[in-house]
Amino acid sequence: MPALGFGTLIPDPAVTVTATRDAVEAGFRHFDCAERYRNEREVGEALQTELAAGRIAREDIFITTKLWNTNHRPERVEPAFEASLERLGLDYLDLYLIHTPFAFQPGDEFDPRDQDGRVVYDKGVTLLDTWKAMEELVDRGRCRAIGLSDITLHGLLPVYESARIKPAVVQVESHPYLPETELLEFCNHNGVVLLAFAPLGHGMKPGLLGDPVISAIAARVGKTPAQVLLAWAVQRGTAVLTTPKTATRARENFDISALPEDAFDEINRIETRQRLNPVVETGVPGFIPQAG
Ligand SMILES: NC(=O)c1ccc[n+]([C@@H]2O[C@H](COP(=O)([O-])OP(=O)(O)OC[C@H]3O[C@@H](n4cnc5c(N)ncnc54)[C@H](OP(=O)(O)O)[C@@H]3O)[C@@H](O)[C@H]2O)c1
Repeated sequence: MPALGFGTLIPDPAVTVTATRDAVEAGFRHFDCAERYRNEREVGEALQTELAAGRIAREDIFITTKLWNTNHRPERVEPAFEASLERLGLDYLDLYLIHTPFAFQPGDEFDPRDQDGRVVYDKGVTLLDTWKAMEELVDRGRCRAIGLSDITLHGLLPVYESARIKPAVVQVESHPYLPETELLEFCNHNGVVLLAFAPLGHGMKPGLLGDPVISAIAARVGKTPAQVLLAWAVQRGTAVLTTPKTATRARENFDISALPEDAFDEINRIETRQRLNPVVETGVPGFIPQAG
């Protein structure tokens, strides 16, 4: 799995196509998708163009997509998986993730709410039930690895312990303000990849991109703050996702190199703590475009 991945959480379908092609051209070979992003067809279209032109080969790219919360019932897992595969135009996946550990009322409505606007959860299925259906996809050779997302160490442990096929990857928010050190140590000891999302703090201002420590290091090493943050993530042994939407940004975000040890340590000593995406604690989706 290439450590540096291109994230496809892009609300605009046309931008999804151009950004995905630009990412391939910049050198990205790892693509992170989701049923919930409602743009697997556009990602697939861009990848098919690049494959057909011979600029990439299927075995050289690593494709992930995710099972949405409304499809946790075991009988819904395979149909959801096959529908994603069809939209992407692929015949196998490299990695399939359970997007969040929260099961929602099954159905076509991605974000089921009651009359008071509260999310309608599905109490009739456990995470382990869903995991077993994920394991069957690996048994049948439909995907090469399975994992979880938006999960805490506390939530991961029971699945990890009971799983016949262990999670290969956990995808969580992680950046210098939320280093997830305990989870990373567990992952390192157990051969699980921690795949970080929001490495640039979702680009929020004020935020990581303007952090004085990051800006000073960027100036010192002749890189941009984004390059410093992405390099830090890889250097600490995580894989990382980034979402450049233009060709220039794609080239910038792909062009990372190891930081000097003192700069790396300085980032590790940043004390600000901030979680940007509360989904892991609340079960309520955030930062996902509602329309599309
Ligand atoms: N599992 C989950 O629940 C979950 C949740 C969120 C994300 N993800 C995955 O993780 C991926 C990455 O997340 P993310 O996009 O939030 O992470 P991010 O890289 O922290 O934030 C993206 C933001 O950074 C800005 N940006 C990108 N490159 C930049 C650069 N070189 N200089 C300055 N700003 C830059 C973008 O600005 P512009 O808008 O101007 O381009 C965008 O607003 C997503 O695409 C998705 O695949 C997963």
